[in-house]
Amino acid sequence: MAIERTLSIIKPDATRRNLTGKINDKFETAGLSIIATRRLQLTKAQAEAFYAVHSHRPFFGDLVSFMISGPVVAQVLEGENAIMQNRDIMGATDPKKADAGTIRADFAESIEANSVHGSDSPEAAAQEISFFFAGIDITA
Ligand code: PPS
Repeated sequence: MAIERTLSIIKPDATRRNLTGKINDKFETAGLSIIATRRLQLTKAQAEAFYAVHSHRPFFGDLVSFMISGPVVAQVLEGENAIMQNRDIMGATDPKKADAGTIRADFAESIEANSVHGSDSPEAAAQEISFFFAGIDITA
């Protein structure tokens, strides 16, 4: 199994409820290492750029508004099969459909306020990591 890196975002609904530690515990318990972390307030332009792939979708405006409604924590997770493993730990986009024990089943408020983002492919992971950590030397 390959060692991969993936980009995780702890979203504003979760930072607002002080859930960063509980969410990070799920990553670390599953064997993923948090090798870079950055808490920031996204601007509207940054959120629109990050989610540009979804710009044609009906919920795009709501998604951008939600993502700038409070601070986020952008992180690089590293481990075996990290991209798909993180998606499994997150659970389904809609918390009503997420498996028990996943982050979204345990913490998400709605399909919009669903607590976490995770890259969905190696290409997206590389692009999303550079979106938040360009020029930063990440030491595993
Ligand atoms: S995924 O993970 O890309 O397959 O999920 P998808 O269903 O395509 O959704 C893409 C992102 O849009 C968010 N989303 C929504 N936001 C607001 N309102 C509604 N109705 C909605 N539906 C989906 C979803 O949480 C995904 O965000 P990220 O940050 O990529 O997980």
